[in-house]
Amino acid sequence: LSLAGCGQEAQPAQSGELLRSKAKLPAPFQVPLPIPPAKKPLRSDAKTDYYQVVQRKASVEILPGLKTGIIGYDGLLPGPTFDVHSGRTSVIEQVNQLDVPTVVHLHGGHTPAPSDGWPLDMIMPANGEHGGGHHMMGGGNMTMGKRTYTYPNAQRAATLWYHDHTMDYTAPRVYHGLFGLHIIRDAEEENLPLPKGDREIPLVIADRAFDEDGSFLYPLAKDGHGVEQKYMEGVIGDVTLVNGAPWPVHEVDAVRYRFRILNAANARRYELGFDKGPAKFVQIGSDGGLLDKPVEHTTLVIAPAERFDVIVDFSQYRPGDEVTVVNKLDGNANVLRFRIARKAADDTSIPATLSSYAVTPRPTGVVRREWRFRRGDAGDHRGWTINGKAFDPQVMQAQVKLDQYEIWTFVTDVHHPVHVHLAPFQVLSRGGKSKLSEYDHGWKDTVDIRPAEVVEVLVRFSAHRGKYLIHCHNLEHEDMAMMAGFETI
Ligand code: C2O
Ligand code: CU
Repeated sequence: LSLAGCGQEAQPAQSGELLRSKAKLPAPFQVPLPIPPAKKPLRSDAKTDYYQVVQRKASVEILPGLKTGIIGYDGLLPGPTFDVHSGRTSVIEQVNQLDVPTVVHLHGGHTPAPSDGWPLDMIMPANGEHGGGHHMMGGGNMTMGKRTYTYPNAQRAATLWYHDHTMDYTAPRVYHGLFGLHIIRDAEEENLPLPKGDREIPLVIADRAFDEDGSFLYPLAKDGHGVEQKYMEGVIGDVTLVNGAPWPVHEVDAVRYRFRILNAANARRYELGFDKGPAKFVQIGSDGGLLDKPVEHTTLVIAPAERFDVIVDFSQYRPGDEVTVVNKLDGNANVLRFRIARKAADDTSIPATLSSYAVTPRPTGVVRREWRFRRGDAGDHRGWTINGKAFDPQVMQAQVKLDQYEIWTFVTDVHHPVHVHLAPFQVLSRGGKSKLSEYDHGWKDTVDIRPAEVVEVLVRFSAHRGKYLIHCHNLEHEDMAMMAGFETI
């Protein structure tokens, strides 16, 4: 399948090598959709909530009747959901009880550099071997056993997520469970008549493959450098998990629901659609929070790390009806199913104006930078590159002044979901046209650059000086060095 309207030669829908499960897989739509538990603070004061998270191994039942060994925040997959209010600081002590180093990054957070999760700022395991390869000597700020991350949450309401960011090992760490949601709310959003409570549901979608005994299959390289070379295009699995359950089913009332959708897959893209009408997605928000006005989609193309905040109206279905969310990119492969349980009252609506967020017109005379995402071609570098360079924590590829608009141009060879830390951006043009794709609206922090495409974005960093990252969010590409440091000054 090629992407409609792409105007390019047909490209495979997925970049990645499919891993096939050896375990006996359940029939779809048997397992109820789990909702990740809300994380409770240990204590709170006037401006701050204090938490502790323990990164630990756990054995969990993902496939019915089998046990899967995971590494999870509080031993969960996904980890617990932080649900916080804009302007209140979260102070999170992360305890590493694993036997490998870890790093935590809040994706979408406007975070001071010491808490942003620089890939060498590792939490070393309290009791374990401290090996990790030659990159250990990169001058990271390591801590033993635990580390405290401070998130000001001084930003508008949005669906963020947190996940591992360890140098060279992000992909296997996330694959084995180190990811979770961090939701920021604010008054602007709370005052809207949107579905709330148990009609506001996170959908964290990720694919995995399972070995015969139920353990995760992941092709770790034997030389200690993350993924096996053959999987450098990305690892994709044959089981779709939503909130950690395989092809789950969820009972709904025949009313409007709000779904916060995150693609937490290492490499797989989804084009979510319904197997039968009339359901559609009314998008109200993107990575960086509410849109100015809603946008209607019959399908939703979502690349790794992107978030779409949508309303789905089930009121035209009758009790007993079922509607299945499928992935159109993979021949309508199953994702999850909704079963309409009953008619119910609905006092929600989707306002024509959602937010005071306004599109910033293209400025003139600003700094422009180009970031080229390409396969490494040099004999000494077998992975991926940005501007011809493999990630080197000693090298800052740009110095960016705070409080100034810049126009960044992303240029690619093959498909790459590009992510910038610290500040959101607005897409200005795609494929040389100022007409955006229908998925480019609002504040984004991750933008899917399709093969042979050029995308321009408008970005401005308005707080926090330090070292930050731009990288591909195909996690195998990231681990194979498609990442660059930049410095805000
Ligand atoms: Cu979601 Cu640098 O990561
Ligand atoms: Cu990539």
